Amino acid sequence: MEPSAKQLARVKALVAKMTPEEKVGQMILVDPRSLETPDDISRYHLGGIFVNGGGAPPPNTMESWISLAEKVQDYALKSSQAIPLLLGTDGVHGHNNLDGSVLFPHNIGLGAGNNPEQVAEIARITSLAMAATGFNWNFAPCVAVVDNPRWGRTYESFSSETETVSRLSAAAVRGVQTDFGSGKARVLACAKHFIGDGGTAGGVDRGNTQMSMGELRARFLPPYIAAIAAGVGSIMLSYNQWNGTPCHASRLLISALLKRELGFKGFVVSDWDAIDNLAPENRFIDALSLSINAGLDMIMTSRKYKACHAGLLELLSQGDLPLSRVNDAVERILTAKAALGLLDTQRPELPSMTAIDHLENRKIARRAVRESLVLLKNDALLPLGSNYKRIHVCGEFADDIGLQCGGWSISWQGSKGKITEGTTILEGLRNLAAPELTVSYSQGVEMPDGTDLIIAVAGEYPYAEFHGDSKDLELPLDQQAFLTALTNSDVPVLLILITGRPLVITPYLDKFEATLVVWLPGTEGDGVAEALYNRDLPTGKLPMDWPGLREHDTIIE
Ligand code: BGC
Repeated sequence: MEPSAKQLARVKALVAKMTPEEKVGQMILVDPRSLETPDDISRYHLGGIFVNGGGAPPPNTMESWISLAEKVQDYALKSSQAIPLLLGTDGVHGHNNLDGSVLFPHNIGLGAGNNPEQVAEIARITSLAMAATGFNWNFAPCVAVVDNPRWGRTYESFSSETETVSRLSAAAVRGVQTDFGSGKARVLACAKHFIGDGGTAGGVDRGNTQMSMGELRARFLPPYIAAIAAGVGSIMLSYNQWNGTPCHASRLLISALLKRELGFKGFVVSDWDAIDNLAPENRFIDALSLSINAGLDMIMTSRKYKACHAGLLELLSQGDLPLSRVNDAVERILTAKAALGLLDTQRPELPSMTAIDHLENRKIARRAVRESLVLLKNDALLPLGSNYKRIHVCGEFADDIGLQCGGWSISWQGSKGKITEGTTILEGLRNLAAPELTVSYSQGVEMPDGTDLIIAVAGEYPYAEFHGDSKDLELPLDQQAFLTALTNSDVPVLLILITGRPLVITPYLDKFEATLVVWLPGTEGDGVAEALYNRDLPTGKLPMDWPGLREHDTIIE
């Protein structure tokens, strides 16, 4: 996102006249729920606020988001320099904290579809939804390259292949930062999490990535190079360490590699409360010093906004933080605000989202779902022949929006149940069934006599981040029991797997006629149904190795 020469000049002039109090305030990004009073936005000259997973303003409607955005911007405009806020949130598969929003497949599914235009389109739609709610900063795309599927964030990554991640990440950045027209609100992208988040030992979230600089560069840097070339405005640091040093404290990684060598001109933001435990004895002032001196520009804090403000001023006055570093950080943050048009009009016009947009977006999501499906095994079951007349669908995952959306869906961890609008896989199968087909359903394995095809839907319960780290890559026990009960069926079985990563399913692969991986498809379950009734076979390809299968291969017979 390139600011104009005029906008840049405005930034320089602004920085030149700002007081230290005003400057350090711009470096703080806070959860608005922790503000003692909204006046603190102007009193501390805060740079941004954010809504994290599940932190939506109640009652979680478009109107409540807009009203939060307007309210906090009003307070920012009352501050001495009247600089608007960055308003950030995670839109990692659609505007996923907003109830009623279309949720797209998680990145792993988009990686299986491997269609950059589609990734860009989804990112653009997400930005439009976000801009329509007054938010101007998306903490996306996640440009992680996954080394080990045990990692609880595997589904946030497009692929284990660096080249695929780079290509799709660049497309996502372009989509997020779409220019909706002069004077219109737009959204800043944030590539995350710098660097090596998907390469930790054992796939442990927030763990240690142990490798040489050469390997780190070869496997994890190219997506950042691609995102920067696509104009990404911000980059979020990662919780993980690299050879024992936290990324948030690494001058080598942030200042030398990212800013100097790659020439990144945007700003660097910390992950949620990530600097809190950086320094010995958790001394916050030392953590601030370590990270800001290493090159961090903006601190994401759930509640320590006052400590950040006071701490940065103290470091400046004691000479532990050079003013030049603060000026650089503020200039980077204000340049992003300028590029968003926030310094020209202060209140860019919000694009609107109509009911027609919603319908159109659901169609696009359905197509993305269709393209993301990977047929792991097909013993001449698909495409479904006209000989199947009585289909029995079973499993709780077949009829549950929350389960098919996974983590980062309305709440941080996601949950079962009707968490938002959408169509379940069962509803899709029923809506699209030809008139001569009957589609019955049970949560368990009991089924009507005369069933000629079983579609069993099983999966992993929703999770996010470290909550999803897995030791064994097995399905949950109840899901294993459910599938085991079907292994001796004399009716052919199609297994549909809802999962954020490759799992060990060899016993079922062997027993069932066909297995279709649908990843975490999001709200549009009818995309799965469309693919099943289609005369062509699903075309998605594994974005990473599957345990027990040949490398990146599927068993199509
Ligand atoms: C995650 C980030 C996210 C942030 C804000 C953190 O826990 O690691 O990916 O952007 O929360 O919600």
